[in-house]
Amino acid sequence: MEPRRREQGADRLRPVATGSETGRAIVIEPWIKRAAAREAAVRANNAARTPEARLEETVGLARAIDLNVVQSGLVTLSDIRPATYIGKGKVDEIAGLTKSLEAGVVVMDCPVSPVQQRNLEKAWNAKVLDRTGLILEIFGRRARTREGALQVEHAHLTYQKSRLVRSWTHLERQRGGFGFLGGPGETQLEADRRVIEERLARIEAELDKVKRTRKLHRESRKRVPYPIVALVGYTNAGKSTLFNKMTAASVLSADMLFATLDPTLRAVDLPCGNRVIVSDTVGFISDLPTMLVAAFRATLEEVIEADIILHVRDVSHEDAAAQSQDVQKVLGELGIEAETDRRLLEVWNKIDRLDADGRARLANLVDRQPDDKRPVLVSALTGEGIALLDRTIETRLGERRQTLHVLLDAADGAGLSWLYRHAEVLEKHVTEDGQMAVTIRADAEKAARARAKFNR
Ligand code: GTP
Repeated sequence: MEPRRREQGADRLRPVATGSETGRAIVIEPWIKRAAAREAAVRANNAARTPEARLEETVGLARAIDLNVVQSGLVTLSDIRPATYIGKGKVDEIAGLTKSLEAGVVVMDCPVSPVQQRNLEKAWNAKVLDRTGLILEIFGRRARTREGALQVEHAHLTYQKSRLVRSWTHLERQRGGFGFLGGPGETQLEADRRVIEERLARIEAELDKVKRTRKLHRESRKRVPYPIVALVGYTNAGKSTLFNKMTAASVLSADMLFATLDPTLRAVDLPCGNRVIVSDTVGFISDLPTMLVAAFRATLEEVIEADIILHVRDVSHEDAAAQSQDVQKVLGELGIEAETDRRLLEVWNKIDRLDADGRARLANLVDRQPDDKRPVLVSALTGEGIALLDRTIETRLGERRQTLHVLLDAADGAGLSWLYRHAEVLEKHVTEDGQMAVTIRADAEKAARARAKFNR
């Protein structure tokens, strides 16, 4: 195995809450030669990931679950071996490494079957985590909402259930099983299956309940008259850093509602006086296991209703183009088309990591874009470009929101309260003839409703 130690990957993911490292790990990136030839062709379009970049990403993901990565490298193979995925020579070589480096975990960036896992764990005397297992761990640690946590648990159990077949004795021995005993005449495999199915059914029932409440939350949020600005982006692009930078200056008591409702929502007053709600989301990861797609989507649903969608990109990353394509694909599945959706605004982040040439090249690229597609260059770390970003958001919002004046009877409390609930009230005063003049700002639909209701 060719050793690769890429320290630049050290900042790839935000450290998780516990901070403590739980184990020494080896990360390997199996690379099938024939597929490599195919990949090279795609790479010519600059869109696919190099094996090195995939390895670097996997190391970052492993670190995100507090693994202490002591060795990582590419393993080239001509074919997948049914018993061990990689060839015997490599299996032996890695066995030597797990022993000498005292590694208790081997992360393999590929799908590993239960049989392969059993054989490899035996040969290496270490736990084997494949890509699905790794991402499941990350999602489990990062699930911030009740629904997210349930979706991840659901995915985890589905994954375990699919791996019970034929290898249950191994699972039971290695992982302790569930410790439940089946009824008379039931095999351990059937018992494990039954326990998992019962838990899945309970989770599904609870998910239904949570989803109903979530809908209520969303509806109450919808009644909030301020526009929503949602941050999306590939994992490690800098969304949370940008979220903190954008919202740092705002300490609004009106936020309290959101703060208690959801820590990833915060109100911000933009320079021209527009108040917006900024919403952070979970990061995208390529090759998401299918069982996790629902969990991932659940966290993204509110993006669909956002007024502005900031697509945060790490432009200092060598795979920026491929990452962007991944994000656009998922957005497309949610009905948000990169080419046509005018709510999308690209934020090109981490420009502080570029040299003068790199910056000039990007600035040039940005200048050549039409106004409505022009990305904003920022550094969420240093704050460079944030003021321009705020202004751009305001301009975009201005295109979507209208300001209008309405007159209502000074005693019309219900009317005034309707305006506060559906629009942003900018100013109000009582006119000489005793009427209430109110200036409001709202999106086109709400403005039309206000016009119909008050300005007959
Ligand atoms: P996920 O939670 O995985 O989706 O990541 P994220 O997009 O929220 O990224 P996060 O804000 O956690 O940033 C990831 C890493 O990039 C951290 O180490 C940040 O300090 C770093 N980072 C973010 N923005 C910048 C930037 O503008 N410049 C530099 N140099 N580093 C940045």
